[in-house]
Amino acid sequence: MATNPASPRDYVPDTLIADDIDAYLAAHQRKSMLRFITCGSVDDGKSTLIGRLLYDSKQIFEDQLSALESDSKRVGTQGQNIDFALLVDGLAAEREQGITIDVAYRFFATPARKFIVADTPGHEQYTRNMVTGASTADLAVILTDARKGVLTQTRRHSYLAQLVGIRHIVLAVNKMDLVGYDQSRFDAIVEDYRAFANEIGIDAFTAIPISGLGGDNIVDRSTAMDWYAGPTLMHHLDTVEIDADREAARPFRMGVQWVNRPNLDFRGFAGMIASGSISVGDPIRVLPSGRSSTVARIVTFGGDLRSARAGQSVTLTLADEIDCSRGDIIAAADDAPQVADQFEAKLVWLDAEPLLPGRAYWLKIGTQTVSATVQAPKCTIDVNTLQSLAATTLHLNDIGETEIITDRPIAFEAYADSRELGGFILIDRMTNRTVAAGMLSYALRRAQNVHWQAVEVTREAHARQKGQTPKLLWFTGLSGSGKSTIANLVEKRLHALGKHSFLLDGDNVRHGLNRDLGFGDADRIENIRRVGEVAKLMTDAGLIVLTAFISPFRAERELVRSLLPDGEFVEIFIDTPLDVAEQRDVKGLYKKARSGEIPHFTGISSPYEAPETPDIHIDTRRLTPEEAAEAIVERVVGVWSPML
Ligand code: ADX
Repeated sequence: MATNPASPRDYVPDTLIADDIDAYLAAHQRKSMLRFITCGSVDDGKSTLIGRLLYDSKQIFEDQLSALESDSKRVGTQGQNIDFALLVDGLAAEREQGITIDVAYRFFATPARKFIVADTPGHEQYTRNMVTGASTADLAVILTDARKGVLTQTRRHSYLAQLVGIRHIVLAVNKMDLVGYDQSRFDAIVEDYRAFANEIGIDAFTAIPISGLGGDNIVDRSTAMDWYAGPTLMHHLDTVEIDADREAARPFRMGVQWVNRPNLDFRGFAGMIASGSISVGDPIRVLPSGRSSTVARIVTFGGDLRSARAGQSVTLTLADEIDCSRGDIIAAADDAPQVADQFEAKLVWLDAEPLLPGRAYWLKIGTQTVSATVQAPKCTIDVNTLQSLAATTLHLNDIGETEIITDRPIAFEAYADSRELGGFILIDRMTNRTVAAGMLSYALRRAQNVHWQAVEVTREAHARQKGQTPKLLWFTGLSGSGKSTIANLVEKRLHALGKHSFLLDGDNVRHGLNRDLGFGDADRIENIRRVGEVAKLMTDAGLIVLTAFISPFRAERELVRSLLPDGEFVEIFIDTPLDVAEQRDVKGLYKKARSGEIPHFTGISSPYEAPETPDIHIDTRRLTPEEAAEAIVERVVGVWSPML
């Protein structure tokens, strides 16, 4: 591990005299920053190349920042006071979410620029590391060995670099010394690579013949390859256009990180400008709401500005009092991003637990966080052959094409246009782990054209007419725990009390609406999702709905809870231990499950996640079904109903 210097001064070369130091540091701060990744294996000479760049550039400072092996090392402790935060800002979100990555960052500078190079090791966690390391890179150096040419791994590296939107590709043909600095060998490799690159949509790349060992064409021009007239690698790195400059030329967009309201007279929207520039008086639009206004002030820590551009952190105040909150996007009024809730996207799965199609995950895109479900992938891409493969889910390191549905509209851009507004991560709602990185391709037409019908007779009107508060009584428990029996008794009592109710029962719904579903995890998730949606509509109609489903997963039960207004979802845990349910075995299913006749049987060969804090907990060893029903009715409608 390298030491973490306390201040930029620790990096100042010893040869500088004291007076120069401030000027030196100021000049250094103004330099632009290029982020790049190196792809290749140790055999390709990657370490030698990086060593060369650092050494031959007579780097002002160099630091093996850290091998980010564990998420326990937090950004804040890495290097305060220095712009090291820049190194990791693209990764901070992932790291806070507890992703384990294995990427080493090195930092160096030339008189022209500062550089961060992410070095991703090439072992089996490859895809995940590379996607994480590359997600903010401007450029990728793809190393090949002149003796071997374009290999499977060269293609894989290039595909991933293209996938994560790296716009500058350098094909560094290394070990030219071992092929006698032969031009025809170099040309053949370049031609070979060009054919492949075109296939995957890389239309331009820079090929450079180098020798890491001899230092040829890395910083200094090679004397052994007069036939090569292009730039050295270092020159190319020093002069290539960086994304930050490109962002500044795009339309204005800023994600609102927080609303700054110290007193009633000031209401500012703070964030970092993702692209474009903004001036006082410019018309803007707030998304997803679509409301518009103009910029009244641009406030910064150092005072008000007339205008600001991509990369700056500012607080905007608007001329009108319009709704705008954390996660919204403020954009140029005449060139605002689209808003949609259904997308075609590419996903790179980063978690050991596979994707559960239909499950709700948190989707974090820029400053917006929404709940989202992913459909079963249309296909996965084999990164070695680039073939599409049929798939029903995504496993660790898989890359898939999927449809994503968010629970509310979000402002977005295609990833190809904006990493900020097109790149996202998925987070498991229970474990808080980052499970996937994704790239939005486009919005699905149906999302743009189907509008929510505003209904005249509201859910309040329905409920009022029935003289009751709608509720969803969600019974959960093992098969044979007594859910249906107790739910039936509860409904009878509610009915007798003049309440309007309806019971949805697992066995019955599985004969109709959900007869296409089995008992695998994904089908159970879909089962509960549909039942949740139907139950929600019934509560909109003013009913008290009872559902009796095993509903084995916490995540889906919580999802249904989130569909309803606070307090309407009542989780009722019918707590019958497995051995008791199995002993009763009313339907003879446990016996069959034990003999292997029924696969994925809850409690035996499929999990049941008991509620941790149910709203009502019924221990069936202590209460008869009648007593349980009484207790539930009393809790739910406040009426004691023993003999009805
Ligand atoms: S859930 O897990 O998707 O919520 P649901 O409540 O709809 O399950 O259906 C459970 C009922 O289906 C059980 O009561 C039982 O009668 C029947 N069943 C058939 N196969 C299985 C199985 N593999 N696991 C659990 N229940 C099963």
